[in-house]
Amino acid sequence: MKKGTIAEKYHDYRDKIGNRKELYKAVARKYGIHSALYPGSHIDIAPSLVIPKVTYVDNFRGAVQFFKDLESIRDYIEENKDYEGESEVDFKGEDYAEDLDLEPVDLIISQYAGFVGQATKKYLKTGGILLCNDSHGDATLAAFDEDFEFIGVVSGSSRIIEKGLDAYFRLSGDQDADVAIVREAMKGPKYSKKAENYLFRKIR
Ligand SMILES: C[S@@+](CC[C@H](N)C(=O)[O-])C[C@H]1O[C@@H](n2cnc3c(N)ncnc32)[C@H](O)[C@@H]1O
Repeated sequence: MKKGTIAEKYHDYRDKIGNRKELYKAVARKYGIHSALYPGSHIDIAPSLVIPKVTYVDNFRGAVQFFKDLESIRDYIEENKDYEGESEVDFKGEDYAEDLDLEPVDLIISQYAGFVGQATKKYLKTGGILLCNDSHGDATLAAFDEDFEFIGVVSGSSRIIEKGLDAYFRLSGDQDADVAIVREAMKGPKYSKKAENYLFRKIR
């Protein structure tokens, strides 16, 4: 990772991945989110700009290094956040599949970091939201998981759509995806209709 201040490092990263603040904001507003867990976050700290309490988890050396300066990260969030009141930012430099000793949260964020929803759903409150993409097949695993209900998609412009959901997770010929293959390949299937992000509610 390049040298520089926390703001410079984060802005540099944000330039690469795109600014996800509006995505997290739309989800937080819609579902009344106050706490979130972001396994495999790398240094995407945008959730803290719109959600008061966020725990980031990543075991990559560069991420661990970045989050060592939690004081400067907290200052950056304080100066740039969109909400009133305290913000709480925590980091665990651990494997998210290991026991993380966490209180249940309102939202889990899964972005390009493996089967986050499956590994960490135990930290999601019943009624809580999983926001994920299908880059590695995490959305597909949630779609076939009886612990989750598919409740919406988020467009590239951060618009939440809750209607017409039957059209998603369909292969041509109307076959179901083979979850075993998705697990093996760690890649989402080529569905007829796709979204940038998917939303699931934990129902049990
Ligand atoms: C491709 S990056 C995506 C980062 C971020 N979510 C984003 O979208 O910009 C994947 C990140 O997940 C982390 N990761 C993958 N598996 C992990 C695991 N089992 N435990 C902790 N971190 C993990 C990697 O270290 C890496 O930083």
